[in-house]
Amino acid sequence: TEFNVAILGATGAVGTRMISQLEQSTIPVKNVKLLASARSAGKKLKFKGQEVTVEEAKPESFEGVDLVLASAGGSVSKKFLPEAVKRGAVCVDNTSAFRMEPEVPLVIPEVNEGALYRHRGIISNPNCSTIQMVVCLNPIYKKYGLKQVIVSTYQAVSGAGQSALNELMTESQQVLNGEKTDPQILPTKGDKKHYQQAFNLLPQIDVFEQDGYYTHEEWKMIHETKKIMLDDMNAKDIKVTATCVRVPIRIAHGETVYFEVADDSATTDEIKQILADAPGVVLQDDTAHQLYPQPIEAEGKRETFVGRVRPDYENKGSYHMWVVSDNLLKGAAWNTVQIAERLVDHDLVRVPDNPYLG
Ligand code: A2P
Repeated sequence: TEFNVAILGATGAVGTRMISQLEQSTIPVKNVKLLASARSAGKKLKFKGQEVTVEEAKPESFEGVDLVLASAGGSVSKKFLPEAVKRGAVCVDNTSAFRMEPEVPLVIPEVNEGALYRHRGIISNPNCSTIQMVVCLNPIYKKYGLKQVIVSTYQAVSGAGQSALNELMTESQQVLNGEKTDPQILPTKGDKKHYQQAFNLLPQIDVFEQDGYYTHEEWKMIHETKKIMLDDMNAKDIKVTATCVRVPIRIAHGETVYFEVADDSATTDEIKQILADAPGVVLQDDTAHQLYPQPIEAEGKRETFVGRVRPDYENKGSYHMWVVSDNLLKGAAWNTVQIAERLVDHDLVRVPDNPYLG
């Protein structure tokens, strides 16, 4: 069988990469529909060398579609994905719109592919920062258990979309020219004030939570990690906390991850071996030769890179690692297409009798 695939948000930072990841995937594509806002209707993009005209997304756009890959923002997914499911399309959603719904599997194929079997039409792709951390932590958790995780992120601006990426480039040029900057987007479109990101660090990603302490990005890392690894967003089994910081780079997130294993007979060499063997993970750790992961080298790659794996000398059974991955690929477009590949492989591109309609 061949599939009719629609990409919702096809003109965006993630959407354009969904197109190229789909081109390189094992999914047999009959026809591809590229959907975006009315602003992009009529624009021409290419799929496997053929020109495809971008259409404005409407509920009827999903008629005859088998598979939807979505990355046009949470409100757009909330509006259109139930319409797509009603019309028989299975949706893989890169936005946070449905991630915490109990009816919606939240999937990293290397970690919890089995959750795909219970899908009811919508499958969520986790947050970019969560994915790259959890592909590394899960095999360690499986072998030694985990008591606690403390992560600090160094996140690229492309996570906030194409317009944020453009803003960083413009501001950088303005600073070099000695001109005034005029921030309009970062730290987040969703909040009132905007700050210069060029040559600066912003400790705010997404809006602040009701408690006034954590940002929503930090909240996502905490609860998504538990939903994926423990299948329960409120699980107390592993303590997780996060600090998320936007750094003035274009693509690929870095993270320092501190973790405490439950079985403290583990050794650093064993932890490194687990990471070296982990699917989707590349160990780049040779301090004698100054080998460690770097964002500019991870850009364009599907893998997650890990290095600087080392013991915490003050706390037995505790370790630190440095994790880097292309936030637009494993963090978004590739993980989404990878989920779609697994759906195809397991014959799961079908909406069941009790569809989830939001
Ligand atoms: P458009 O380019 O027409 O605005 P990014 O994450 O890089 O900001 O991209 C967001 C994507 O979501 C773009 O493809 C954008 O299309 C699309 N999009 C934004 N709003 C809508 C909407 N209301 N309906 C459909 N697509 C939308």
